[in-house]
Amino acid sequence: MRDTKRIAIYPGSFDPLTNGHMDVIERALEIFDEVIVAVLHNPSKKALFSSEERVDMIRQSVNGLKPVHVDTFGGLLVEYARMKKAVAIIRGMRAISDFENEFQMALMNRKLNKDVQSVFLMTGLRWIFTSSSIIKEAAQFGGDISDMVPKPVKLKLMAKFPKLNGQA
Ligand code: PNS
Repeated sequence: MRDTKRIAIYPGSFDPLTNGHMDVIERALEIFDEVIVAVLHNPSKKALFSSEERVDMIRQSVNGLKPVHVDTFGGLLVEYARMKKAVAIIRGMRAISDFENEFQMALMNRKLNKDVQSVFLMTGLRWIFTSSSIIKEAAQFGGDISDMVPKPVKLKLMAKFPKLNGQA
């Protein structure tokens, strides 16, 4: 038996967390001993939720899923991965449209740190069309996003977008 934990980082903006992200976290837990969901803290990138709000929503949503940790990071992802002694960076893949950007990022990350592997996990078919941006857009105009985000995220979206109220 291995005596070291295999830690994976699941990085992203998570603005906000979706059920597609939850699906990837659950799949990653089947492979790795520990998953760190790492929210990018980048004050110059415009976001709907602050990084603290995003971390809170993720913590509430993964409550009960073990062993998942939630954290923020800034700067280079591979440096954060090194600091956390992670062996892998997890990214979810929805469709071919995700590929080009992910491929470029993975190769750059490998160039910067050859000791951390990029691992791509296919999201479940149910979530293939979802993204944080499209969910925010629908929510803004009162579209029902109930089955696309965890409950703690839905409540936060309802607080931001009054048009969503009435769909509790
Ligand atoms: O959810 P996102 O916005 O697609 O996540 C992108 C993220 C946070 C994984 C990426 O922007 C990132 O890793 N940013 C940190 C800076 C870095 O290390 N970039 C990779 C070198 S190309």
